Amino acid sequence: MLLASLVSLATLAQTCLAAPWPFDVTTISAPDGSITAKFVSFGATMTELWVKDKFGKARDIILGYDDNSELLTDPNHPVFNPIVGRYANRIRNGTFSIPITKLPQPDGPNVYHIPTNDHDGQDTLHGGIYGWDRRNWTIVSKTSNSVTYHHLDAADEGFPGNVSALATHTVENGGILKTTVHATATELTPIMLTQHIYWNLDAFQGSDNILKHHLHVDGSRVVAVDGDAIPTGEFIDVTGTPFDFRTPQTIDYRWNETVGLCLGQCNGYDNCWIYDKSEETKPGVSLWSDISGIRLDITTNNPATQVYTAYWLNTPRKAVHGGPNLTYDSFSAVAIEQEGYIDAINTPEWNVDQIYGPHRDFDWSTTYKFSTTT
Ligand SMILES: *[C@@H]1O[C@H](CO)[C@@H](O)[C@H](O)[C@H]1NC(C)=O
Ligand SMILES: *[C@@H]1O[C@H](CO)[C@@H](O)[C@H](O)[C@H]1NC(C)=O
Ligand SMILES: *[C@@H]1O[C@H](CO)[C@@H](O)[C@H](O)[C@H]1NC(C)=O
Ligand SMILES: *[C@@H]1O[C@H](CO)[C@@H](O)[C@H](O)[C@H]1NC(C)=O
Ligand SMILES: *[C@@H]1O[C@H](CO)[C@@H](O)[C@H](O)[C@H]1NC(C)=O
Repeated sequence: MLLASLVSLATLAQTCLAAPWPFDVTTISAPDGSITAKFVSFGATMTELWVKDKFGKARDIILGYDDNSELLTDPNHPVFNPIVGRYANRIRNGTFSIPITKLPQPDGPNVYHIPTNDHDGQDTLHGGIYGWDRRNWTIVSKTSNSVTYHHLDAADEGFPGNVSALATHTVENGGILKTTVHATATELTPIMLTQHIYWNLDAFQGSDNILKHHLHVDGSRVVAVDGDAIPTGEFIDVTGTPFDFRTPQTIDYRWNETVGLCLGQCNGYDNCWIYDKSEETKPGVSLWSDISGIRLDITTNNPATQVYTAYWLNTPRKAVHGGPNLTYDSFSAVAIEQEGYIDAINTPEWNVDQIYGPHRDFDWSTTYKFSTTT
């Protein structure tokens, strides 16, 4: 009894004390009060995002932890809402060359090996053992509605050259969140980033999963992948398949046909859609829930998006979502990741240039606009 009280006192003290860098929390709010977001320096990660539902009540609509140091220590490493780099998603065999070629290639001065951390060593996922999501970024500037973080990636995962990245998160009146990343490289190197946000627009009030969320993806092609989730070079035409969200559908509209689509035993989606619109015409994804009435419209300068319905989740929820007794599990959320063509660095037939360097900076930009439906 006494021990239990001491433990809960200690927990209370921990949550009341401001966490030290890199888990220091920065809160930004739009002047009109429509949106408030919290971030930690670690991974330039968003930890809470509060927007108003159709009743005018604020909900925290992203997954996360009560103790943000679990971003580093959670053995499941679900990648809750950070900036992911230097190369998001998968790299076949953790190997690529510059200029790019189709694997296999003989070892040589222009062939690079990154530690493989996925599918029993068959590929690299999200930038290596310690990708940008698990690095100590630093704050370079901050206002009431904006924060900018910096990370120097000094090539310790085996990529060529240093990459310096600035990530800026801004919230604006009218329920707008905008994230941009500008990266410069000292040598030729692949760069492909994402922001890996897990959404549940009900915030676990009225529903425990995202199966009835409405989804609209402006894409008529999905990247075909092999058993290790590596592109074959082909595309799947979504017409007549459960991948067709060109007309909005509830996520579960052809749920029984998704068995195996995201590989192995799982069901649901973990796939890369190629946008039909180009950067100039603002491609994107929309997601909304009838329960909260919260609607999210995403627009981006990226050519593709990964939609992952989170089959593999298994992490205690944060208190605001009913944790820690309740757990985030399969379909608790949908991760929607704005990205480049996945593993284009091993798929030369696509003619997609993801090699940056002193001659070419990298820019990533995505806007999340919130509104309510009735
Ligand atoms: C896979 O990577 C290993 C080193 O990590 C290398 O020895 C091997 O040649 C690569 N295989 C192919 C097919 O490129
Ligand atoms: C990052 O922060 C963690 C946690 O405070 C610390 O253990 C680690 O040494 C830091 N890493 C670097 C490279 O500063
Ligand atoms: C890359 O970063 C490391 C660590 O900060 C530094 O020692 C090195 O000089 C940098 N290299 C270049 C080419 O900037
Ligand atoms: C999906 O499969 C379940 C169990 O086999 C069945 O009860 C349900 O009716 C099916 N749903 C649809 C939409 O076909
Ligand atoms: C969580 O579970 C514990 C142990 O079963 C129980 O004592 C406690 O009341 C539960 N807390 C909540 C908020 O449900």
